[in-house]
Parts: sequence; C-alpha cells; structure tokens
Amino acid sequence: MTVLGKADPAAAGTSPPSPPSRRAGILGIGHELPAGVLTNEDIQALVETSDTWIMERTGIRTRHQVGSGETAATMGAVAARKAIEAAGNPRIGAIICATCSPDTLLPSTACFIQRELGLTGQPAFDINAACSGFVYATAVGNSLIASGTCETALVIATEAMTTLIDYTDRSTCVLFGDGAAAVVLGATAEGGIAATQWFADGSQAELIYYGPANDDETSADHLRMMGKGTFRLAVDRLCTMATDLTARAGWSLDEVDHFVPHQANLRIIESAANRLGVSMDKVIVNVDSVGNTSAASIPLALAGAAASGRLRAGDKVVCIAFGAGATWGGIALEWNKQPTV
Ligand code: ACO
Repeated sequence: MTVLGKADPAAAGTSPPSPPSRRAGILGIGHELPAGVLTNEDIQALVETSDTWIMERTGIRTRHQVGSGETAATMGAVAARKAIEAAGNPRIGAIICATCSPDTLLPSTACFIQRELGLTGQPAFDINAACSGFVYATAVGNSLIASGTCETALVIATEAMTTLIDYTDRSTCVLFGDGAAAVVLGATAEGGIAATQWFADGSQAELIYYGPANDDETSADHLRMMGKGTFRLAVDRLCTMATDLTARAGWSLDEVDHFVPHQANLRIIESAANRLGVSMDKVIVNVDSVGNTSAASIPLALAGAAASGRLRAGDKVVCIAFGAGATWGGIALEWNKQPTV
C-alpha cells in the first residue's frame, strides 16, 4: 500500500501573503435575515429544555427561520443585491456561494442566485465547507483576484439550516438559525485581505454530519453533532488560527482591532478569547440574536458591525471559522472604506 506523505498542515492550508500590488478587499457588504423568529420559549414548546439552559450553555436567545418560499437562494440573492449596490454596481467576474443547505443538489445555489440577479456569463459555483464556508469562498475569490483571473468576485454565504434540523433533538435544535450575507471582493489599492488560511481534516468527519443517527440507521436524515468533541476541537483550532493568521499578516494580536469568530456558541467564543488573552471588547458577537448560521455566520457578524459603524476604514480584522469536515480557516484583512446597506 502506498503511504502518502503527511503534508505539514500549516503549510498545506496557508496561502502566501497577498502581494500588496494586487490585493482583494471587501468593496460592499449586504445581508438578509428571514422575518420568522424562533425564540427559546418557542423551542421549549418542542423539546424538554429551558431558556436558562440554552442561555447558560450557548448564549443564544433567538434565531431566524425561513418561511414558505424562502430558501438559501432567495435569501442569498437579496443579500447579494445589497452587496452589489453597496459596492457601486461593479461588473461581477465570478459568483461563489458558500452553503451546506442548498435549495437542491443541482444546479448550484450560485446559479439560482445568478438568475435571480439577472446576471449571466460569469462562472457561478457552490462551496460546501459548512461553517468555514465563507472563509473558503473568500479564499477562492481572493486567489481569483490576486492572480488577475477576475477583477471582482461576489461571495455569498447563505444557509437554511433549520431545514436540516430534527426538532425533537434538543442537543442541536437550540443552536441553528437561517440567514445570508454577501460581499463583493475587488482589487484594492489600500488595505484588503492580508492573509488567508484554510484547512480540513476528514478523519473528523463524524463530529458533525447530515444523515441518520449513529445508533439508529433507520432514522431520518438530519444534522447530527457530537457536541463536546466539536467544542474542544473548535476552541483549539480557533486559537491556533488567530495566532498564525495574525503573524502571517505581520500583525501582533494586540494590533488587531476586531476578532470575528464563527458564531457557534458564546462559550466557545469566550473560551477562545480567554485562551488567547484577547478582551471580549474586541470580539464581534451576534450569536445571541441569530444562533449558528453556519457559513453565513462570519459575514452576518461583519455586516452587522459595518452597519452599526463599529468597523471603520483601516481597522485590522481577523475572521476565524471552524465547522463540519472538520474544516477550519481564517481571513486577516484591513477593512476598506465603503458604504453599507
Ligand atoms: N436543554 C436541556 N438539556 C440539554 C439540552 C438542551 N437543549 N441539550 C443537551 N442537554 C443535556 C444533555 O442531554 C446532557 O444531559 P445528561 O447529562 O443527563 O446526559 C446535558 O445537557 C449535558 O450535555 P452536553 O452535550 O454535555 O452539554 P454541553 O455543555 O457540551 O453543551 C452544546 C452542548 C451546546 C451542543 C455544546 O457542546 C456545543 O456548543 N458544542 C459545539 C457546537 C458547535 O460549535 N458546532 C459548530 C459547528 S456546526 C457546523 O459546522 C454545521
């Protein structure tokens, strides 16, 4: 049997620092949340749980839920339109959609969004890296721009996670919510993406998966998760990445203005910040109101912070994600001046 050489994970998933001459930056951002809201009280009516347990263990108070006719594609198209307008309606060179809850297996959700936007011609494709989806899609968009393949890339992260959930499983149904956010990436003379990292370890595939329960192969397909194992690995990877990514961008941890972690659970975010010695004042958190929106989680947090004026041009931002696969990754960027919607 051929034994494949084990690649150094840090080298395998780390892009070389982006050359300042051809950096991509976020030129416009937009988001969309469905009107439907699922409160802890609503969930209490479905499974044996309590607002106190959910708040103490997850920090989640509400999450949004798609209604009739709403899908990953419909939310993604609304978010994308806002991002394109915010960026000043540039020509779009590529459409990359991060989702693990697509409308259908084929065609891609990116193609549905392309049609809804009235665009045609440019490549449009999906990426499934679960909660790391936005980081993966941005890393691809950044490479397309840095290499000169495209002038702009529309990156959409959209999830209808509530359609994957078993609402009799209290360990998962309290966590997930729906929503979408999109960014237009484009070549920028100042600031922009300084470093990206993206990794996977398929040996951890059983931690979070979609299918029947492990102890009952006849049960229906739903999102399944080994909560404790996921928690430990997530904290570990988020910390390593924040440190590595910041160093690769040439910054110290102290210089970073905002950390934007994947919004899975407030305790994961606080544990990682505590281990890194980073004050929670520097951490952008919206998990309380939207829950875990998988790929959409980081750009939704960015969109909220941009809309509230918390993100200012020139701010150093480090986004770090961890999700099913296992996948993890991050983006270090200087926030670009832009209008927001
Ligand atoms: N309400 C009340 N009790 C509950 C609930 C609930 N909603 N859920 C679980 N419990 C119970 C369990 O049954 C267990 O009871 P027992 O001791 O009698 O067996 C007890 O609470 C403790 O359960 P744990 O699973 O040990 O609880 P924990 O403190 O680990 O919290 C949680 C669970 C919130 C799921 C946590 O492990 C977590 O957040 N994990 C990470 C999730 C995550 O980050 N996912 C990210 C990626 S998702 C993606 O990529 C698609």
